[in-house]
Amino acid sequence: MRRNWSAAALTGVLAVSVLAGCGGGGDDAGSDSGSDGKITLGFSQVGAESGWRTANTKSIQESAASAGIDLKFSDAQGKQENQISAIRNFITQKVDVIAFSPVVTSGWDAVLKEAKDAGIPVILTDRAVDSQDTSLYKTFIGSDFIVEGEKAGDWLVKEYEGKTEPVNIVELQGTTGSAPALDRQKGFAEKIAANPNFKIVKSQTGDFKRADGKTVMETFLQSTPDIDVLYAHNDDMGLGAIEAIEAAGKKPGTDIKIITVDAVKDGMTALSEGKINFIVECSPLLGPQLMDLVKKVDAGEEIPTRVLTEETTFTQAQAKEALPTRQY
Ligand code: AHR
Repeated sequence: MRRNWSAAALTGVLAVSVLAGCGGGGDDAGSDSGSDGKITLGFSQVGAESGWRTANTKSIQESAASAGIDLKFSDAQGKQENQISAIRNFITQKVDVIAFSPVVTSGWDAVLKEAKDAGIPVILTDRAVDSQDTSLYKTFIGSDFIVEGEKAGDWLVKEYEGKTEPVNIVELQGTTGSAPALDRQKGFAEKIAANPNFKIVKSQTGDFKRADGKTVMETFLQSTPDIDVLYAHNDDMGLGAIEAIEAAGKKPGTDIKIITVDAVKDGMTALSEGKINFIVECSPLLGPQLMDLVKKVDAGEEIPTRVLTEETTFTQAQAKEALPTRQY
């Protein structure tokens, strides 16, 4: 809370100074230091639904502390309405920058406009919004979830190369309406369309949670006895499903091949033990880059509109090698 943005926001004078390739509305350039000289960042987190999310929260909190940024952290407990209230509170408190990881893609325009009108720059982290007006936020830092889905699909296509029998796939989707659920489904579906033997026989949300992954997999197993492949949009749901598969007397990774996304330690451990077959990495360690962007945005510096996270994939052998030094 170090400056008064209103003059610039009202006149819109600085709004026109955004350079090509920069994100957002540009009504916040050149802020000065406040009484404590610290930037205040309001951050609204999705919740604590998965191991990925816990690692992401830790990364953000630790990075803010080491960057000397005053972090106001709010946990939305998976609810969009909580995120909207948190953002409104940040606006009232006149924080310098707002960042958030949107629970779902739609329904953000009104509150983002309020932030813009108050002259507070917004950074999207981890997940995108579907707003047509990209001036409502400065940049979006995170993974390409479509590419993650494609990597999962590519692996499966290769795994069944040359085989002619039908392949029954069940899918555990992430939170309904969230960017990673929509995009991971899309990327995967597009790639497996290459093989007419592939059929997604069931697809249902497990809300990115281990307990829900288990419950939904139990119903899949009851209704569909001949499942060949499980594609889970994150490790946690895959791990829950493994419990259900074992309880049903089947061997995960052998009787049912399993592909997941994230590569958190628990997922990597199951992969190294042969219970998962392939994991597409999604890095939660966004904190250091986010703090760098916060400082730049606050200083009115030019930043790219999209910052992509670098990620890889893991086979069982690669998981064994990577596990000893895995950070999360
Ligand atoms: O938005 C990232 C996704 O959210 C992670 O893949 C999942 O584990 C988390 O809940």
